[in-house]
Amino acid sequence: MGTRKKKTMSQSALILIELLSLLTSRSTLVSAVSADCKCIMFDSTYNKDYGVFTSPNWPVPYEDNINCLLYTFVARENYLIKVIFEEFDLGRSNLGCKFGDYVKLYLHLKEPLINQNTSYNTFLCGKLSDIQQTHYSSGNTLIFEFHSDWRQENNTGFRGTFRFLNK
Ligand SMILES: *[C@@H]1O[C@H](CO)[C@@H](O)[C@H](O)[C@H]1NC(C)=O
Ligand SMILES: *[C@@H]1O[C@H](CO)[C@@H](O)[C@H](O)[C@H]1NC(C)=O
Repeated sequence: MGTRKKKTMSQSALILIELLSLLTSRSTLVSAVSADCKCIMFDSTYNKDYGVFTSPNWPVPYEDNINCLLYTFVARENYLIKVIFEEFDLGRSNLGCKFGDYVKLYLHLKEPLINQNTSYNTFLCGKLSDIQQTHYSSGNTLIFEFHSDWRQENNTGFRGTFRFLNK
């Protein structure tokens, strides 16, 4: 299937150093919204330009209290990223996506680095029919954050595909 590399960012300096050295060659640095954020990287190592991403344990329901899980896509220069959510089931709050489980999309990034002030494009939550399935980055970086709240509602999460496209 796809190229999928897991990198866990934690307080551990060792892991951070590993991540830094991994990314130095592309002179990029993944910075989390908060120090607790975990990060899953998708890049063009081995010239892979497409793949699959899923929420944790998909299609088994994801856990509650996933505070912040970042899906970070980094393509080569002059490429952009297309993501398609093909399965989608996130717990939706009556008050809106921000108050339940959500995917928060950042499409217009200049570098794979976000913080709490970075402007985002949209929140996705609910069922497949509630969301726009296809999204494009403007540059060679795309990040989305997955967050689940304290309610365990047995939602299955998401499965999608990504592709790096030559501009
Ligand atoms: C975010 O913006 C606030 C208010 O302008 C500022 O105090 C804070 O330092 C910013 N945080 C980061 C990480 O840039
Ligand atoms: C979620 O699934 C568990 C295990 O099957 C069940 O005990 C629980 O009641 C379910 N919760 C909801 C909100 O449906």
